[in-house]
Amino acid sequence: MNKLIVSLLLTLGITGVAHAAGDATAGQAKAAVCGACHGPDGNSPAPNFPKLAGQGERYLTKQMHDIKDGKRTVLEMTGLLTNLSDQDLADIAAYFASQKGSVGAADPKVVAHGEELFRGGNLEKGMPSCIGCHSPNGAGLAAAGFPHLSGQHAQYIGKQLTDFREGNRTNDGDTKIMQSIAGKLSNKDIEAVSQYIQGLH
Ligand code: HEC
Ligand code: HEC
Repeated sequence: MNKLIVSLLLTLGITGVAHAAGDATAGQAKAAVCGACHGPDGNSPAPNFPKLAGQGERYLTKQMHDIKDGKRTVLEMTGLLTNLSDQDLADIAAYFASQKGSVGAADPKVVAHGEELFRGGNLEKGMPSCIGCHSPNGAGLAAAGFPHLSGQHAQYIGKQLTDFREGNRTNDGDTKIMQSIAGKLSNKDIEAVSQYIQGLH
């Protein structure tokens, strides 16, 4: 079942962004301006700014292209990517991917429900578990462009799931996989699974 979904996504080309190989050392200098929000090594200290450290290179490159091309709106980053070339973006992605992501702690009050959703999905609503694509430890599948989630700020995760659900983030490919999954999550579900992810490692 999960293998089927993965190959379907690959066939449909959700992850199909061709890009040059990145150079992490060159990327570190080019990423200096990003550190103000995302942290110098990509471990952002602020809960609304995503951690980029340890994120998959392919996913990072796709997001930067999407943000640059206006397919994903990030007001805080307006103009920041405009003058960066494809090679610059590849180098920056390689740099952040090579850093070690830090892990937070989950709110014990909601973590059990979060774990249930993450590992088991919701059969009644026909929602698949998250682990099929994001893996049981949240590491994702870098080669396929499935993002690493573990240790990410709960506030950021919660905003993404809400944005997918409300149609404010629509860059998840033709299959709209995350929009359809988030459409089956209540506010309580989002709060719980976001807390679970924040403490996951
Ligand atoms: C002023 C703050 C700020 C600066 C500076 C900034 N960003 Fe961001 N960035 C954000 C915010 C906020 C988001 C998430 C927006 C949202 O909630 O969707 C984001 C999202 C991202 C994402 C998507 C992460 C994910 O998990 O999907 C990437 C990649 C990224 N930024 C790269 C960069 C790079 C590269 C630079 C430097 C060239 C940079 N950012 C500079 C605020 C900033
Ligand atoms: C069939 C595969 C699949 C399943 C199942 C799946 N995801 Fe995703 N998810 C993806 C892909 C692919 C993306 C990247 C979309 C893009 O390129 O913008 C993503 C992106 C995300 C993001 C945004 C990450 C970031 O850094 O901005 C979050 C959060 C997320 N998924 C959470 C979940 C949760 C929670 C579940 C289970 C309830 C889940 N996903 C189930 C494939 C999946």
